[in-house]
Amino acid sequence: MSSTSGDVIENENYPTPEAAVRSLLSMIDFKPGDTFLEPCCGDTVDADGNPTPCIYNLVPVTGYKKDWAEIRAGREFLGMAFGDKRYDVIITNPPFSLSEEFLKKCQNLLAPGGTLIFLQRINWLGSKKRIAFWNDVGFPDKTPILVPRPKFDKSKKGTDSCEYAWYIWDPEGDRTRRIKSGLSHSIAEGYKV
Ligand SMILES: C[S@@+](CC[C@H](N)C(=O)[O-])C[C@H]1O[C@@H](n2cnc3c(N)ncnc32)[C@H](O)[C@@H]1O
Repeated sequence: MSSTSGDVIENENYPTPEAAVRSLLSMIDFKPGDTFLEPCCGDTVDADGNPTPCIYNLVPVTGYKKDWAEIRAGREFLGMAFGDKRYDVIITNPPFSLSEEFLKKCQNLLAPGGTLIFLQRINWLGSKKRIAFWNDVGFPDKTPILVPRPKFDKSKKGTDSCEYAWYIWDPEGDRTRRIKSGLSHSIAEGYKV
């Protein structure tokens, strides 16, 4: 959603900027054999059939170890049955209006010792209606804040008006050992500070 105008694109199709994805992935130590899920992967190819720089394509996990859902490609995540499948790493930027449902389902799909990462606004944390939700799911261990602020509403000048962070649940901490606990920064590659 545009945090400025409140207008919402159909299916909340706001791809994560490549620089934000690369900045996160540069700090993650995947393990050999890790399995991966992107529960709303967006467009993995562009209009010319070329791969897009999306989370699903940039994660360094290959072949059958990668799984995905995407409503516009006929796989609606919340209704999908996964059976016994569990994933070592799940990373996504979910549709904001379904974030709570996505997070709960992703937590259930995480393998023991797994790492779960959601891109979210910082103000996902404080609303009164989500107190019970946060008590239930638990706060993330790490929250690197995106610098610069990403721009999801391309019709506006400048970046979005609110802060975003990668919300990271990684209790064992080994895949994200290079990210500080609590608040930190995730600075886009090539961005001069
Ligand atoms: C904010 S975009 C992010 C896309 C991608 N995860 C990324 O980081 O670039 C949200 C995506 O969720 C998809 N989506 C919306 N509702 C969904 C659902 N119920 N199940 C699966 N995908 C859904 C949209 O089509 C869109 O591609």
